[in-house]
Amino acid sequence: MRVRSTLAATALLAVLVVAGGVVGLAALRGSLYGAAEASSAVQARLVRLSVSADVLDSGLEGPGSAQRSALEAAVGADDDRGSHVQVLDADGRVVARSAALAGLDAISGARPAVGELLQEEREVPALGGRWVVTVVGARVDDRDFRVVAAESTAEEDAALRQAALVLAVGAPLLLAAIAAATWTFTGRSLRPVEAIRRTVEGITSAGLDGRVPVPEGRDEVARLAVTMNEMLSRLESSQRSQRRFVADASHELRSPVATLRAAAEVWSADAGAPREFTELVRSEAGRVEALVADLLLLARADEGRLAREDADVDLDEVLEGEAARLRALGAVRVRARTVPVRVRGDHRQLSRLVRNLTDNAARHAAGTVELRTALEGGSALLEVADDGPGVPEAERERVFERFVRLDASRDRASGGTGLGLAIVAEIAAAHGGSVRALPRPGGGALVRLVLPLGAPADGTDAADPADGRGPGGVQPPSAASR
Ligand SMILES: Nc1ncnc2c1ncn2[C@@H]1O[C@H](COP(=O)(O)OP(=O)(O)OP(=O)(O)O)[C@@H](O)[C@H]1O
Ligand SMILES: [Mg+2]
Repeated sequence: MRVRSTLAATALLAVLVVAGGVVGLAALRGSLYGAAEASSAVQARLVRLSVSADVLDSGLEGPGSAQRSALEAAVGADDDRGSHVQVLDADGRVVARSAALAGLDAISGARPAVGELLQEEREVPALGGRWVVTVVGARVDDRDFRVVAAESTAEEDAALRQAALVLAVGAPLLLAAIAAATWTFTGRSLRPVEAIRRTVEGITSAGLDGRVPVPEGRDEVARLAVTMNEMLSRLESSQRSQRRFVADASHELRSPVATLRAAAEVWSADAGAPREFTELVRSEAGRVEALVADLLLLARADEGRLAREDADVDLDEVLEGEAARLRALGAVRVRARTVPVRVRGDHRQLSRLVRNLTDNAARHAAGTVELRTALEGGSALLEVADDGPGVPEAERERVFERFVRLDASRDRASGGTGLGLAIVAEIAAAHGGSVRALPRPGGGALVRLVLPLGAPADGTDAADPADGRGPGGVQPPSAASR
């Protein structure tokens, strides 16, 4: 908008300046040349009055007489006056001329009728430069003659050149000044809009508590800011009640579901109960219970209440534990390459995170799951890879969204709910880390978790207990969890 306003103002002004310049120069030229034409016409007419028949008859070299003297004085035969005159007889011969035209033939071939006046502007090679040439036709005692007067336009042309130069230098300066002024002025008026935009950009669904700055005054921008803040308040309160509702609902569901599952377990122990039916109730109740627990965890994460113990967690031990569990299940080959990696955080949540990743890997693997911890660039690195189909590139961000399950896995018997990776992302973010899905070299999926390092695992837990974090300690949760 700023660029557009500046361009529009400058372009409009440029058109006006060019049009004004052209019209102004044309008017100036008209008035300057008009004066030269008038003076040349007066000169020609004056000289006409001094022409007599015997001067015409005797020609340029004729004897001196009173009439000849008068004519020579009128044309300036002996002194150079700047405007030059020739008197031509009916045959075009020069009978009198100004000093500057000595020895020249007629400088104009025009033959106006008696009493008529012709005027033209042209180059006169004999004199050099442009001239206003006036030719007057006249008659004395039945003898036709012409008076030619030439008035130089050198001064007029110089004045025009100077005016054009002033315009050529002044116009760009004027345009630059106007462009700079428009740019500054629109920038200043748009500053509050930019401030509003930047604030809104920073307001994420994770934190709708930000408000845009309201500029002083009651102009459109101020009213827009007020309206936007009202809208943000409404959004925030509706989001809060929605989250509260999910949290409350999951919380309330927890105990009846647990009771149902316990009842189903007791019932299935009863030898007389229908086996398939009690199994179904038991496993479905178990799934509902897990789902409710997931929802509760996510609702707490949304409210920023993901309660978190702050303890040392050895990621390599957590991962080795998972490796042992998967080996015991025996469905896949497990390769673990771990180095001691200690982070600060909540042991249960981090175990949950690793479990979700290894569950996915074991479910999708063709035969092998690879687990790895490492230290890299001052961060803790945990990788879970499998040789399955991998996650398509276009879905690598989306799989971390809630309830996202890719089509291929929908028909799998082990129906997940699509919350596993969303929970992984929330826990990683709550620990100041990030998680990404990548292609595994050689095919398959690789999920990489990066967490800030805690105190070193070799027992030098000398980190200040008051700060309790050690080098590379846990940072506040970041919105950019993925
Ligand atoms: N290792 C993997 N290989 C291929 N696809 C994967 C892998 N891990 C996850 N996905 C895809 O990402 C989707 C989302 O995973 P996520 O763990 O969030 O949900 P889920 O495993 O389907 O269900 P849940 O974990 O809640 O039981 C999965 O449905 C699957 O399509
Ligand atoms: Mg999963």
